[in-house]
Amino acid sequence: MTDQNVTAESMQETEFPIPAGVYAEKVVSVKHYTDRLFQFRITRPAALRFRSGEFVMIGLPNAEKPVFRAYSIASPSWDEQIEFFSIKVEDGPLTEHLQKVQPGDTILMRKKPVGTLVNDALIPGKTLYMISTGTGIAPFASLIREPETYEKFEKVVLSHTCREVAELTYGHDIVAAAKNDPLVGEEATKQLIHVASTTRESSDRMGRITTQIEDGSLFDHLGVPPLNPETDRGMICGSMEMLKDVKALFEKAGMTEGANNRPAEFVVERAFVD
Ligand code: A2P
Repeated sequence: MTDQNVTAESMQETEFPIPAGVYAEKVVSVKHYTDRLFQFRITRPAALRFRSGEFVMIGLPNAEKPVFRAYSIASPSWDEQIEFFSIKVEDGPLTEHLQKVQPGDTILMRKKPVGTLVNDALIPGKTLYMISTGTGIAPFASLIREPETYEKFEKVVLSHTCREVAELTYGHDIVAAAKNDPLVGEEATKQLIHVASTTRESSDRMGRITTQIEDGSLFDHLGVPPLNPETDRGMICGSMEMLKDVKALFEKAGMTEGANNRPAEFVVERAFVD
C-alpha cells in the first residue's frame, strides 16, 4: 500500500512527503481519559527494536518540516503495537493536532528509540521505586509489562501522583492489564504495588510524593523501612521541578544517579511534552 492510499483512506491531510529516516505508522486505537489526557496505539514497524522504558520522537505528516516531540513508549518491548500516553495542550505545536487523531491516521516516528529509564541503567537490587507524576507514568506502563523487571527486582512500587482523581485512571488500567497479562500476570500480581495519590482533589491517598517520602508515609503504607541504597533502586519521570526534588531525596538517602554506560542506584527522565 502506498502512502497515497493511506492518506485517502484515513482522510488525514498528508500532501506533504514523509521525511527521510522516519517510519510512517497508522493509528490503531485512541482512548480519551480526560479533557487533558489521552492514550493511542499505532502499528509497530517490523524493523523497530527498543528496550522497555525508552522514548522516541513522534510527529504528524502535516507540514514540510513536521514538529517532532519526545514520547515515552508506553507498551513493552514485546508488544505488537506501540502505545503512547499524551497530554493535550490547546496551543501545543504537536498536541493541538495530535489530540485529534483517529484510527487510520498516520503518525511519523523517528527510527532510533533512546532513554535512561531502562533496567540496564540500574544495578541489581530488591525493590524498584518507579516515581511518576502526570504523563510521567508512560515509561512505567512499558516497564511493568516487561518480564525482565520482575526478574531483576523482588518488589516493584509504581507511584503515580496527579492533581485530580480522573487523571489516575490510566495508571489503574495499565496495572490491571499487567496483572491480567498472560506473560507477566503472575509476577505482577505478586510483585507489583501501585500507590496512586492526588494533590488537588480529595481521594483515599493525598499528597505529593516528595512529602510522602519525607514524612515516611509512603514506607509506612508499604510496610517497609525507609530508602536504603543497598537494596532500593529508583526511576523518576515527571516535570523538571519534580525530578529535581525527588532526585534530591534519593541522593539524601545515599543513592547515586546512573546512566546506560554507568549503572547505579537510580535514573531520571523528564516527561517531555508540556
Ligand atoms: P501539586 O498539585 O501540589 O502541584 P503537574 O500537572 O503540574 O505536572 O503536576 C502533576 C502532579 O505532580 C501534581 O500532583 C503536582 O502536585 C505534583 N508535583 C508538581 N511539582 C512537584 C514537585 N516539585 N515535587 C513533587 N510533586 C510535584
